[in-house]
Amino acid sequence: MLGSWGDMKMGLLAGKVAVVTGSGGGIGRCHALALAKEGASVVVNDVGGDRSGSGAGKSMADKVVDEIKSMDRQAVANYDSVATMEGGRRIVKTALEAFGQLDILVNNAGILRDKTLLKMDEAMWDAVIAVHLKGTFACTHAAATVMKDQGRGGRIINTSSTSGLLGMFGQSNYAAAKAGIAGFTRVCALELTKYDISVNAIVPIAKTRMTEDLPRYADLKEGELDPSHISPVVVFLASDLGKDISGKFFLIRGPHISAMEIKTTEGVKKNGMWTPKEIAANIDKIMGW
Ligand code: NAI
Repeated sequence: MLGSWGDMKMGLLAGKVAVVTGSGGGIGRCHALALAKEGASVVVNDVGGDRSGSGAGKSMADKVVDEIKSMDRQAVANYDSVATMEGGRRIVKTALEAFGQLDILVNNAGILRDKTLLKMDEAMWDAVIAVHLKGTFACTHAAATVMKDQGRGGRIINTSSTSGLLGMFGQSNYAAAKAGIAGFTRVCALELTKYDISVNAIVPIAKTRMTEDLPRYADLKEGELDPSHISPVVVFLASDLGKDISGKFFLIRGPHISAMEIKTTEGVKKNGMWTPKEIAANIDKIMGW
């Protein structure tokens, strides 16, 4: 019977196994705790570096594993970088070795190396694309392969950004990666539906080490835009409650949740080819202004 103490204790994700990349801090840590609270066993992956992706260490992932264990739930750490195919495979293997299965993948790991285009060098570009875009591909490829073989479906939740979907000054590398993740999400949703694997993306806005020095975060009240606001959407998508939703984008800013989509304007039509001057004359209608 729904609502009994037994169900509440078991949770929405009882018997499920989740990988959350980059869950040693920030939004990923909140996802790992929220998934565990609902009964999932969790692989806490994190390289443990700084915001720019430099350095490495085990303590960030270990701390979150300890937090989950103190909730009387199961967790194991993994310290591989998501940015290589081998890393993706090892992260997924950690789930199989520790818990024997994989049901949920949350691609969350990320770094920032901001510069305006003309000051952006190749290393800044490559590092950000590698962690966000290739990392999402590497982990998704490894996880979806296992989910298909298991034959029980699966849930994949990627992390995009308003920077990629709407644009943000100084973030051409990050925005390209995040917009790439959006396209990747749509295609994976189409391709994996036949295996009952859903693929969605969240577009979070939260105060973490990634954003805390932005001027617009300076006046926030205590707890406003806390990263824990993001995770209920991830739990929803990971659970049976969200099983029919795939290829969608959820914008989450504190307690405000909305969907983001690309819209086509009504546009203009004529018989035959438009001339550039006619296009200029119709630009308001084309743009939907
Ligand atoms: P964060 O810096 O606290 O978390 C990112 C985590 O990823 C860190 O724990 C880091 O050690 C880990 N990580 C970095 N490179 C890794 C790698 N190669 N392999 C494994 N782990 C790695 O930042 P935050 O804000 O929690 O970001 C989480 C995700 O949300 C990122 O993908 C970020 O781009 C995205 N995001 C965050 C927004 C925000 O407002 N905070 C806005 C839009 C997107």
